[in-house]
Amino acid sequence: MNTKLFSPFRLRDLDIPNRIMVSPMGQYSAVDGCVGDWHMMHLGNMAISGAGMLVIEATAINPVARLSHGDCGLWNDAQEAALAPILEFCRRVGGARIGMQLWHAGRKSSVTVAWERQQAIPPEAGGWTPLGADDRPYPRRNTPKAMDADDRQRILQDYVDATERANRLGIEFLELHCAHGYLLHNFLSPLTNNRTDEFGGSLENRMRFPLEVFAAIRRAWPEHKPMGARISSIDWASGGWTIEDSVAFTKALQALGCDYVTASSGGAVPEQAITVEPGYQVPFAERIRRETGICTAAVGLITEPRQAEDILQKGQADIIALGRRMLWDPRWPWHAASELGEEFFYPKQYERSHPSMQGGDFLAPARNK
Ligand SMILES: Cc1cc2nc3c(=O)[nH]c(=O)nc-3n(C[C@H](O)[C@H](O)[C@H](O)COP(=O)(O)O)c2cc1C
Repeated sequence: MNTKLFSPFRLRDLDIPNRIMVSPMGQYSAVDGCVGDWHMMHLGNMAISGAGMLVIEATAINPVARLSHGDCGLWNDAQEAALAPILEFCRRVGGARIGMQLWHAGRKSSVTVAWERQQAIPPEAGGWTPLGADDRPYPRRNTPKAMDADDRQRILQDYVDATERANRLGIEFLELHCAHGYLLHNFLSPLTNNRTDEFGGSLENRMRFPLEVFAAIRRAWPEHKPMGARISSIDWASGGWTIEDSVAFTKALQALGCDYVTASSGGAVPEQAITVEPGYQVPFAERIRRETGICTAAVGLITEPRQAEDILQKGQADIIALGRRMLWDPRWPWHAASELGEEFFYPKQYERSHPSMQGGDFLAPARNK
């Protein structure tokens, strides 16, 4: 074992074979929140990719929590039953530890799927009224209802119910989606929260509901299983959420038992001014890690094995989350291992694809382990 990228680590009682995480990626292919054959292919493919961690896409905790009609959900028995055989398959064929991202899409919800360009679907056309921290709409989307005390109680319970279902399904770690302009980020960002009660105004007040959700899930989730959060480290907009806020939020999450934070960014408002370049969010993971000591996942335009290894070697992050690169090249971890001179898990059915076994010697020792 030479590289950090392929070094094992542990979160609570979970042994994780390496530092590569498949970033959660919505497939917009669920029906009534139920996963299907696309997910069998997609998650199966990612499970055998060699990545140490696979985070199932943002999974809605109730129907209104979905962004679109195609999103996964985990609020009923049919959705739980649909996931079970896919998870069983992934565990049988793959080596990744399987996590799930729990989600409420907040004020952005009720739109068409990604490849139909996320057009708003009004309630009278089969959509629904989104919920938000306040009642200001995301531009060109349905006007949200500002959440009241009943909404908060129901949502807390829905998060807990989904957590219990995830545990029954044998999900190994959970991730709370607090980023990208969805419900919990709506509360966090001053740009999307103009409340005057104890859930708006000061940073402490804006963090209150997201922290209540985290605490409720953590209580319902077994002590020995890890739980993380994805945050938007900054809003990239004047008057918005800052990296200092992210450090404060991470410290509060840590106190509640958070095991890792994925440092994403943006999504609150369309006028964000993002400078996108390779590894553009890595400095956020680095700063949060340095100032809190939490395990961080770096994400965003990390595409090259040596780039990933460098981030880990410099102590900027503990985990490398890959999104689009894994869709483009689902064998990225195999190729990275080959490039960096490492050996690791790949399925025996495919072992003859390894460059060391292309000489025609069928009896050559398997490099699989
Ligand atoms: C098709 C697609 C779906 C995504 N769905 C989610 C999601 O469900 N939850 C989430 O937190 N981020 C989601 N993202 C963001 C990715 O997880 C990742 O943070 C982003 O793509 C940047 O990383 P990359 O440059 O490696 O792709 C999605 C991205 C893509 C491309």
